[in-house]
Amino acid sequence: MRDFAPGRVVPGRPLLLVCSPRAGNSLTAAFAFAEARADGRAGKSGGKAKATASVSPSGGIPGAIRPVMLHDYDMYPCRDCGRCAQAGAAFPPDNPARLCPMATRDESAPLLAALLAAPWLAIFAPIYFYHLPARLKAMLDRCQLFYNAALQKRPFMLNLPKRRAYVVLAAARERGEQLFAGSLLSLKYALAPLNMELQDPLLLYGLEPKGDLAGRADLLERVRQYGRLARELEGTPPEPEAEDFYGEYDGREPA
Ligand SMILES: Cc1cc2nc3c(=O)[nH]c(=O)nc-3n(C[C@H](O)[C@H](O)[C@H](O)COP(=O)(O)O)c2cc1C
Repeated sequence: MRDFAPGRVVPGRPLLLVCSPRAGNSLTAAFAFAEARADGRAGKSGGKAKATASVSPSGGIPGAIRPVMLHDYDMYPCRDCGRCAQAGAAFPPDNPARLCPMATRDESAPLLAALLAAPWLAIFAPIYFYHLPARLKAMLDRCQLFYNAALQKRPFMLNLPKRRAYVVLAAARERGEQLFAGSLLSLKYALAPLNMELQDPLLLYGLEPKGDLAGRADLLERVRQYGRLARELEGTPPEPEAEDFYGEYDGREPA
């Protein structure tokens, strides 16, 4: 049972997306991040009791962005029908995501529209078998729509400003060099057509039961630092990359 009211997407606002099906460590991270981003002083003094208490499900700090639960949005996977790859496809101007035939069957359209319009994005997700949970992977695969639109040089893609994407991933294992590798590659390359640049991610090891992070003042403080960084960087647009992204991306291999 949830004891908080999750947010709904608001186009044009920053998007904090919690990608676990349960109200667990990813959600705790999202609240800590949101609170620290809203109030740069949040949690600076540390200490377990204070750190735990200040992650409030109701979003206790004024101005804290309310995280959105990805699992509140039904989303079918991409079925590679090719519609978005057709040169003559008419992307609906109000919401290009509605071009996808699956968008009439599920709740993806507002979420994908919010991705298009968000000034920045923060993803909070658990690791499932060395990768992202299926719903999040479905969302990234549905971003194939944006990949094709960018290849076709659609104006709504070419005019996107450069944006930052923050990532916090939680896993149960205590160690593992490859634990997050596949997830980060997928996020990087799926979000790149949206002109979103993955920031250095925050990778959290050793979290398993859903209440683990709430009891880890050390890790919570790292999440808050990450939230404060997002706050500091707001208003300073990311540097445009010198390299031609699409040239690099053609083979879908990392550089
Ligand atoms: C289906 C499933 C697969 C998982 N696979 C892994 C894994 O490969 N490696 C790992 O370290 N933890 C794995 N976990 C554990 C979760 O990543 C861990 O419990 C995480 O803290 C959950 O975050 P949440 O509370 O936000 O859901 C898995 C959990 C589930 C339910």
